[in-house]
Amino acid sequence: MQQANQVAYLERMLRMVRTNTRDDGPGLSYTPVEGYYDPVRFQREVDLLFRRHPIVVAFSSQLRKAGDFVVHNDTGQPILVTRGTDGVLRAFLNVCRHRGAAVEQKPCGANKRAFVCAYHGWSYDLTGRLVGITDGAAFGEVDKSKHGLRRLKVAEKYGLIWVVPTALEDNEDAGLDIDPYLGALQADLSGWDMQGWELHSSAPIRPRMNWKLVIDTFLELYHFRYLHPGTVFPLFLDNIATYERLGSHMRWAAAKRTLTELEGQPKENWRIRDHAIVFYQLFPNTVLTYTQDHCGVFTSFPITPDESVMQFSVLVPPEEKAKKPESYWKANVDLFSTALVEDFGIGETIQKNFRSGANRQQTFGKFEKALGWYHQEVAAAVE
Ligand code: FES
Ligand SMILES: [Fe+2]
Repeated sequence: MQQANQVAYLERMLRMVRTNTRDDGPGLSYTPVEGYYDPVRFQREVDLLFRRHPIVVAFSSQLRKAGDFVVHNDTGQPILVTRGTDGVLRAFLNVCRHRGAAVEQKPCGANKRAFVCAYHGWSYDLTGRLVGITDGAAFGEVDKSKHGLRRLKVAEKYGLIWVVPTALEDNEDAGLDIDPYLGALQADLSGWDMQGWELHSSAPIRPRMNWKLVIDTFLELYHFRYLHPGTVFPLFLDNIATYERLGSHMRWAAAKRTLTELEGQPKENWRIRDHAIVFYQLFPNTVLTYTQDHCGVFTSFPITPDESVMQFSVLVPPEEKAKKPESYWKANVDLFSTALVEDFGIGETIQKNFRSGANRQQTFGKFEKALGWYHQEVAAAVE
């Protein structure tokens, strides 16, 4: 994040503290409750957002060496990402071209030379080429060049790996330039310099909530005082945050209690990470949170209209990892995980209550404008 933006955000939040105001939008905003459970809408979201948009499925630190691989099933598509001996990262459908079994069953691994199907032993090299058909002469004529693993578009940048989960035709290019998709966020992601960061941990949570309701829990600070008094609220000022819409994505910052220490300090020394957490919503389903020493990555995936799986991953710069003991990182992960249990406990009641007939729409306050923006953006993409 550029220094000028850091100072602007910090100044805005200091002004809110001084004047007891909030980062107001022009008025209330709304989204219909059916959007959270209607099966037709749900299917459109899966078909459009989770098949046509780039989705974060892995991190560079999981795939640094030739033969490293990651399997990812959360989009509903069976995805296999691997790095070849040529250093190129590739993504495939994890589907054998004989009769469709998964060619890799482990969630991740290293030193792979070939993917061998467990069913009849067909084998594929790291570039996805079909290299072996067991008992091939007797099997009959198969054009191996046309039966490689089905490729997917993939991009690796800023320590993140995006895949577009739609099978490519043999003549289509698997390259994906992520920068135009990120738009204004590109400069920020480049600035955080995450390429060398290590994945500390990644764990799934399966709330009985629509996948968008999971994202909603990140988009306002209003609830911190009431829902998180014993976990994350003590770290933050009460509902002091500033939001910005950047194309289909968003960036915002949430002020920590130390913010007011900046009053009177020279602005060239202001560093936003010392006094706020910086958030990004990468459309459609990822939230990044930058704290002083790490990045939390939250990805929400649809299972059914009323169920999702959220992966909570922590990326850490190697120099920070070396400085701090494992107990420090574990305490951090535990704190956020406990707050998520609080969020999702409430979220599951909301999901149930959508069908009660009490509310036809969700009402978002002026300082909850990011929720309004997010649901507008999803609606525009699927309607
Ligand atoms: S399904 Fe893979 S070898 Fe038969
Ligand atoms: Fe929360």
